[in-house]
Amino acid sequence: MIIAIDGPSGAGKSTLGKMLAKELGLLYLDTGAMYRAGALAAIRQNVSLDDARAVSRIVQGAEIALEGEPDALRVLLDGEDVSSEIRTLKVAQAASVVSTISDVRRRMVELQRSIGESSPNGCVLEGRDIGSVVFPNADVKFFLTAKPEARARRRYEEDKAKGHISTYEKTLAEINERDQRDVSRSDSPLTISDEAEVIDTSDLDLTEVFEQMMSKVREKKGAAA
Ligand code: DC
Repeated sequence: MIIAIDGPSGAGKSTLGKMLAKELGLLYLDTGAMYRAGALAAIRQNVSLDDARAVSRIVQGAEIALEGEPDALRVLLDGEDVSSEIRTLKVAQAASVVSTISDVRRRMVELQRSIGESSPNGCVLEGRDIGSVVFPNADVKFFLTAKPEARARRRYEEDKAKGHISTYEKTLAEINERDQRDVSRSDSPLTISDEAEVIDTSDLDLTEVFEQMMSKVREKKGAAA
């Protein structure tokens, strides 16, 4: 079974994707982490992120892998664990730029398909283009969204808990900037697939969203049986 979860940052995709993967015994693939690892590779080589050819050459040559259980996922770049380093604001912003490059996207999509297809029980993939590009025939598609203010509030609280210093206003501005880039890029912009179940998580708690998603999955499984 392939489950696609798309949506803007801070809508709850990662938390809910991990919960679903654990509950259903599926592999969990955080595709944003792969773009972040690619961006980190480019930063480390000191190339300008505007130089699409240089960036894509570096990303093509980088070995990006994800390992471990959904809630203890490790992201490896050329064999090195970069799980924490890819979560910095600098890398998030670089990933948002690098992910506009078509050659980079092509390489990531290939990798994501091969990981998803080779997983014995199936896979939960979360990102921006899973239901539209990576697995257009996914068994279940979700589009999680929330008001920018709700997403910024959650992200700000998460960052604070991790000891990162920022302000709510700054976080909101960053979220708006990344959203704008995600929806306006020419290659695979963030869109809602026709068959996707759209869930606005602004005023829902995690358990409510999880139950809603699980009932959709059960419905699909029932229909397939
Ligand atoms: O979900 P995230 O914040 O970790 O994603 C990092 C960046 O990668 C974000 O700006 C959007 C981009 N991305 C993408 O373009 N396509 C995906 N499937 C996943 C992430």
